[in-house]
Amino acid sequence: MEISYTQALEKLKQYGQEHILRYYDELEEAGKEELLRQIAETDFSVLDSLKQKDKGVPKGKITPLGAMELTEIEADREHYYQIGMQAIRAGKVGAVLLAGGMGTRLGSDEPKGVYNIGITKEVYIFERLIVNLLEVVRQADTWIPLFVMTSDKNHDATVRFLAAHDFFGYKAEYVHFFQQEMAPAAGYDGRIYMESKSRMSTSPNGNGGWYISMKNTGVLRKAKQYGVEWLNVFAVDNVLQRIADPVFVGAVIENQCSVGSKVVRKNAPDEKVGVMCLEDGRPSIVEYYELTKELMNAKNEKGEPAYNFGVILNYLFKESALQEMLEKKLPLHVVEKKIPYMDREGNLVKPEEPNGYKFESLVLDMIHEMDSCLPFEVVRGKEFAPIKNKTGVDSVESARALLTENGVEL
Ligand code: UTP
Repeated sequence: MEISYTQALEKLKQYGQEHILRYYDELEEAGKEELLRQIAETDFSVLDSLKQKDKGVPKGKITPLGAMELTEIEADREHYYQIGMQAIRAGKVGAVLLAGGMGTRLGSDEPKGVYNIGITKEVYIFERLIVNLLEVVRQADTWIPLFVMTSDKNHDATVRFLAAHDFFGYKAEYVHFFQQEMAPAAGYDGRIYMESKSRMSTSPNGNGGWYISMKNTGVLRKAKQYGVEWLNVFAVDNVLQRIADPVFVGAVIENQCSVGSKVVRKNAPDEKVGVMCLEDGRPSIVEYYELTKELMNAKNEKGEPAYNFGVILNYLFKESALQEMLEKKLPLHVVEKKIPYMDREGNLVKPEEPNGYKFESLVLDMIHEMDSCLPFEVVRGKEFAPIKNKTGVDSVESARALLTENGVEL
C-alpha cells in the first residue's frame, strides 16, 4: 500500500497525529518510504478507544456458569480420553501457541519462550511446552500441527531460537509460524510515540488477534489441509500446562460445545484471574478488576462461591464456530504499559515505569462470541505455573517450585 506525503498528512490530521511527520524532511529516501508505508498500513481508529478508556468494556447481566469439576471428569476420564485421542489421531486437533506478547513484566529483551528457567541446566520455557505436547504426540503416535504466533518484534528471534534447538524434538514440518498485527502505542496525552525518526512505536495488537492473523497469513488454510477442526490456543508462559490434552478434547466434543476453557478453582475470592460466567445468557469471562464485591461473595445453590473458576488461557475452539468472528470486531482494551520511545534529542528511551497506552484485543473476549462453553476444571498444582514476573507471584521462582513439585529437573 503506498500513499503520498499529502495523503499521509491528511490521514494523520483526522487523529491529531501530525507530529509523526515532524522529521520527514530530514529522512533519506528509504526512511521516507518506510514512514509513509507505516502510516498507510496503520489503523489509527484504535485511538478512538482512549475516549472510553475509563468506562472499560461494557458488560451485560452476569450470572454464574458451572464448570465440569474434577470428580465428574475423573468418573468419565477413560471415555473422554478415547474420544479425544480419536480426534487427535484423525488430525482434527491443532495447537496454537500465543507467543506474540512482549513479556514486559519479565523484563527480558528476548522473546519470553527463550527464557532459561533452569537452575543446574538449561531449561527453556519453549522447551517445557514442547515436551508437554510431545507426550500427547507419543501417545497418539501422530504429529499435532503446532501454529506459533509471533509479532514483528520477536519473530526472527523466536524462529532462530527454535531452529537452533531443533524444535526441542518436534518435527519441524509440523511447526508453522505466523505473525500477528501491530497497533500504534500512544503516550498519556494520546499522541503516538516515535521509535525513530522514520517509525512510530508499535506493539502487538493483543492475543485476540490470533484467529484473524491465522486467516490473513494463510496458516488457517494449512490447518484445514491437515483436517483440523479444533484449535487449542494456549499462552507461552504456563510451563505446566497440558496441550491438546485428550481428556479435555474429548469432554468438549462429547458435550457439543463450541469452546472449552481450562479453569482452576480460585485460591482466594480476590485472586487476580478472570472468572467464567454467563453474560446475558452467553458464556463470558469477567476480569478480576471488573468483579464487584457482590459477585465475589455470591454463592451458588451448593453454597459455594458462584464465580470460582479462573481461566488459565488454555481454550479449545471449534474452528467452524470461529468463522463468524471474522466479521466482528472484538472490544479494544486500553492497557498501560512501558513503551520505548525516541526523545527530543533522538535517543531511544526504555522507560522503567509505564508511560502510555497500548491497544489490545483479548482472546477472552472471543468466548462471549461462542454459543456454548465448557469450563473444564484442572488441578492447579499440576497444570498452572504461569511466568509473568521475575520474582513473587506468578514468577520464575514460583514456577520453578511448581515444576520441581511435579518432578521436573531444573
Ligand atoms: P500477557 O498479557 O501475559 O503477555 O499475555 P505480555 O503482553 O507478553 O506480557 P506483559 O504484560 O507485557 O508482561 C498472555 C499471552 O498472550 C500472548 C503472550 O505472548 C502470552 O502467551 N500475547 C499477548 C500475544 O501473543 N500477543 C499479544 O499481543 C499479547
